[in-house]
Amino acid sequence: MAEFEPQIIAFTCNWCTYAAADLAGTSRIHYPANVRIVRVMCSGMVNPMYVFKAFESGADGVIVAGCNYTDCHYIDGPVKCDAMFARLKKMVHVLGLEEERLRREMISTSEGVIFARVVEEMVEQLKKLGPSPFKIKMETLA
Ligand code: FES
Repeated sequence: MAEFEPQIIAFTCNWCTYAAADLAGTSRIHYPANVRIVRVMCSGMVNPMYVFKAFESGADGVIVAGCNYTDCHYIDGPVKCDAMFARLKKMVHVLGLEEERLRREMISTSEGVIFARVVEEMVEQLKKLGPSPFKIKMETLA
């Protein structure tokens, strides 16, 4: 039987983490192909509905990543993202999801290595957790 390969959606800020992911690619830093990146203009614009939609669409885990507090182009995006993420962690239990399926990161433009490490760690974490219970529920309803 094939090993479970988790699917990860990463919402990445255009200015920092998306650039870090791009740097990882252009620098040929190896990281698992389990992640699909959704570029957003700022981590502060990600709302819980985006994350729920990702799980509904089959994600096993979600990363929300953007600039550090002092680098945000829209000033308070990381603060808004932190607040959203705290609320989100309380809400995911309603869907029957473990909060370990969520990860919040701040990854700067030059940190392609860190982006790769975060994806690797998330893949390992999700392999331990197994497929998303929400995905399994959606498949049984289809
Ligand atoms: Fe990157 Fe706001 S512009 S988090």
